[in-house]
Amino acid sequence: MLRFSVLLFFAISAVSISGKRQCLEGAAHKQRPSQENNLHECTLYSKSSCCSEDITKELADSPVIKVNTTYWNRCGNNSKLCQSYLKKIECFYRCSPYIAHWAHPHYAAAIVSVPMCQNFCDDWYEACKNDFTCVSNWLTDWAIDEKGENHCKNACIPYHEMYGNGTDMCESMWGDSLKVSDSPCLCLQMDEMDSKVVKLLEERATGNSSSSSRSDEEQFCRLKLDKIKKLKEPKDEGVETF
Ligand SMILES: *[C@@H]1O[C@H](CO)[C@@H](O)[C@H](O)[C@H]1NC(C)=O
Ligand SMILES: *[C@@H]1O[C@H](CO)[C@@H](O)[C@H](O)[C@H]1NC(C)=O
Ligand SMILES: *[C@@H]1O[C@H](CO)[C@@H](O)[C@H](O)[C@H]1NC(C)=O
Ligand SMILES: *[C@@H]1O[C@H](CO)[C@@H](O)[C@H](O)[C@H]1NC(C)=O
Repeated sequence: MLRFSVLLFFAISAVSISGKRQCLEGAAHKQRPSQENNLHECTLYSKSSCCSEDITKELADSPVIKVNTTYWNRCGNNSKLCQSYLKKIECFYRCSPYIAHWAHPHYAAAIVSVPMCQNFCDDWYEACKNDFTCVSNWLTDWAIDEKGENHCKNACIPYHEMYGNGTDMCESMWGDSLKVSDSPCLCLQMDEMDSKVVKLLEERATGNSSSSSRSDEEQFCRLKLDKIKKLKEPKDEGVETF
């Protein structure tokens, strides 16, 4: 385990230095990201994907019944909009070619502190607040049977009773995996702008803030915030679905 962590540490260092895309060890990912032409879901990652076609088949169902050994409908079917957010998160974890940026230092299949946009978490909460769940933390709170399948230990209650708000939901539902970012711009919202965010975060991490990349960042942030504002205006179609 120690040797593995050390290797993982070097793998992560290599990622942040070279900006090389990497998949997650221990998460049934591909060795490295590659193009996938036949994803059934998660097509945001078609150009470069850590997942292969098979796992996206179950995710393309509507409603989603289960993904691999995890049932999504233990408290009944999710509403369409709520489900679209759950799919985005699952797609990110399964397929994102940037996922190893947030690899957990000790658990090979886990991620930690992915910087989420506040507005994404708030919209997600709005979408799910009247759906039902029996677990606060989807990683640890299930009873798992001998087949690896998940069961409720507690009663199903509405999301709005389980979680106080979008921040609470984002930072509880997947343990330490997600963290609401202080920045309204350098944060992920599971759309096509994420790849640019990752690039800007990389530049920051390498201390490479030449004046050109600074102004590049400002320009991008204005664009992104404008886009979020536009999406909000027509109130009831304010959320992209996959
Ligand atoms: C599906 O679940 C099994 C058993 O938990 C696991 O070994 C396998 O890696 C999982 N596959 C994917 C694609 O997650
Ligand atoms: C959930 O969706 C499936 C497939 O559409 C349907 O057969 C089933 O009756 C639904 N379950 C509930 C509790 O609504
Ligand atoms: C969100 O909910 C958490 C937990 O219920 C609470 O501690 C926090 O103050 C809330 N934040 C806002 C902005 O309401
Ligand atoms: C810093 O940024 C410049 C311009 O974007 C790029 O050409 C250079 O390779 C970067 N250097 C490092 C160490 O990332």
